[in-house]
Amino acid sequence: MTLMTANKMPKQILERTTDYHIPVMVDQVLEYLSLKPGKVYLDVTFGGGGHTRAILESQPDCRVIAFDWDPIAIDRGQAMVDEFEGRLQLILGNFALLYRIFKKQKLGKVDGILADFGTSHAQILSKDGFSFNRDTPLDMRMSPSFYRKTAGDVINTFTERELRDLFSRYGQETYAGRIARSVVEGRRKARIRSTTQLATLIERCVPKSKARKIHPATRVFQALRIYVNHEIENISIFLKQAADHLNVDGRIVCISFHSLEDRAVKQFFRSEDSLEVLTKKVVMALEQELSVNASARSARLRAAQKKGV
Ligand SMILES: C[S@@+](CC[C@H](N)C(=O)[O-])C[C@H]1O[C@@H](n2cnc3c(N)ncnc32)[C@H](O)[C@@H]1O
Repeated sequence: MTLMTANKMPKQILERTTDYHIPVMVDQVLEYLSLKPGKVYLDVTFGGGGHTRAILESQPDCRVIAFDWDPIAIDRGQAMVDEFEGRLQLILGNFALLYRIFKKQKLGKVDGILADFGTSHAQILSKDGFSFNRDTPLDMRMSPSFYRKTAGDVINTFTERELRDLFSRYGQETYAGRIARSVVEGRRKARIRSTTQLATLIERCVPKSKARKIHPATRVFQALRIYVNHEIENISIFLKQAADHLNVDGRIVCISFHSLEDRAVKQFFRSEDSLEVLTKKVVMALEQELSVNASARSARLRAAQKKGV
C-alpha cells in the first residue's frame, strides 16, 4: 500500500491495515460474533490475522483457534501466537476438513466461527498465477500441497466446451465462448504457460468497451482460481461441519466475495434446522470503508446463531 493511500484512511481502518491484507467489515464481524468473556472462537481463514487480532483485542478474555491452508500465512502468524501469549492457536489446514482437524487436535465445540472466504491481498501479489499484472507460471493453487491440478493444466487440457462452461460458471464471463475458442486455438501453436500469455490472448479476443471497468482477463482468472482451489465445494462441505461444532447460542459469520459463495451460505443458513438466521438481508460494507478499501465492495456478510435443542 502506498503512503498516500494510507494517509487518507480513517484511523480505525488504518490501525487494522497490514501489508499482507486489509480485513473487511471488521466492525460488522465483531457485532455479529457478539463476543463474550471466557469463550473460544474459530477463525477458519486466518490470512494476515486482521480479524483474529480484532477478536482478541476487543475481548481480552477470549481465545481464538485459527486455520489457514497457506503455510506462509501460518508461518507469518507465529508472531501473533507469541504476542497473545496462549490465547491464539494456529493450525495449517483446509477448513473443509474441520471434523478431522478438531478430532486430531482434540478440540471441543466453539462459541463463534468466522469465515472470510477467498484470497488475501498478499496471495494475489506473491503467488504464481494469481495476477495478470505479473508474468508468472499459471499455477494459482493457494496451497500446492492440497491440490495437484494447476490453472495451466486446466487451460492446456480442458476441451473448448469445458473451458467455456468454467469461465461462464465461475467467472460469469460474457465472452466465455469466444475466449475458450481462442485458448484452444492458441495452445495448438504452443502450450500456454504464463499469466501474461493467457492475459494477452484474452485481451485480443474481448472487444474493448468503456462499460467494462475491469481488466478483460479478471473474470477468467477468477474462474480458474475458484476451480483449481475447489473453493465452492470446500465452502459447502465446511458449513455443515461448522454448524455441528458450534455451542448453543454460538454464532457463525461468513463473508463472501462471489455470488456462488454467497448463495451457498444463504441456502445453507436457510435450510439448516439447527441455525437461526440473524441477517435477514445480506450485510454490505459502509461507504466509509469502501472509500479506502475498494475490495470491500463485493463483500457480502451473513450470520446465523445456533439454536438450543
Ligand atoms: C480473504 S483471506 C482472509 C483474510 C483474513 N480474514 C485477514 O483478516 O487477514 C482468505 C484466507 O483464507 C484462506 N483459505 C481459503 N480457502 C481455505 C480453505 N479451504 N482452508 C483454509 N484456509 C483457506 C486463504 O489462504 C486466505 O489466507
